[in-house]
Amino acid sequence: MDTIRKIVFNDLIEIIGLEKKIFDDSWSSKIIQNQIKNLEAINLAVIQDSRIIAYIFSRIYVDFIEIERVGVIKSERRNKVGEKLMKELENIAYLKKKRKITLEVAENNFSAINFYKKLFYKKDGIRKKYYKFDNQNALLMSKELN
Ligand SMILES: CC(C)(COP(=O)(O)OP(=O)(O)OC[C@H]1O[C@@H](n2cnc3c(N)ncnc32)[C@H](O)[C@@H]1OP(=O)(O)O)[C@@H](O)C(=O)NCCC(=O)NCCS
Repeated sequence: MDTIRKIVFNDLIEIIGLEKKIFDDSWSSKIIQNQIKNLEAINLAVIQDSRIIAYIFSRIYVDFIEIERVGVIKSERRNKVGEKLMKELENIAYLKKKRKITLEVAENNFSAINFYKKLFYKKDGIRKKYYKFDNQNALLMSKELN
């Protein structure tokens, strides 16, 4: 059975490997290290047979949480793993009395946009040429937690 737990420093090497497989614009080891060490973050992993199959990185702000990254290994996609991670993050955010989750997603990342829409995230606007990697616009989305 899959379990969800907080990401710890020992996960660093495994996450660096997954990040390269999941994202074309993968974060550097240093950025991942800082994210894991950041106390103002909620970082969660889904574990299957002692391996990480998905993770989410987010930052805590005064009255909202911002999702930085959510990724699932290819072989486990469309199995509701991503959905479970998002719901766990939303539960933790709610317990921390944060009532909003925000995120940015590349305008051409149709699967991720669909994924967020399915979870009731709404479009707030567009940030032009936000992604330096390929000049893509970012779609700004958010969800109120009630
Ligand atoms: C986006 C991502 C995290 C979704 O994770 P997942 O575990 O496959 O998603 P789920 O199985 O929980 O999907 C839930 C719903 O989202 C939507 N969805 C997910 N993937 C989709 C796809 N490829 N195409 C269309 N809709 C999709 C569907 O409505 C799906 O429900 P359904 O399967 O009943 O139709 C995953 O595709 C991924 O890791 N992508 C690469 C990294 C990325 O782009 N991350 C987001 C930007 S940081």
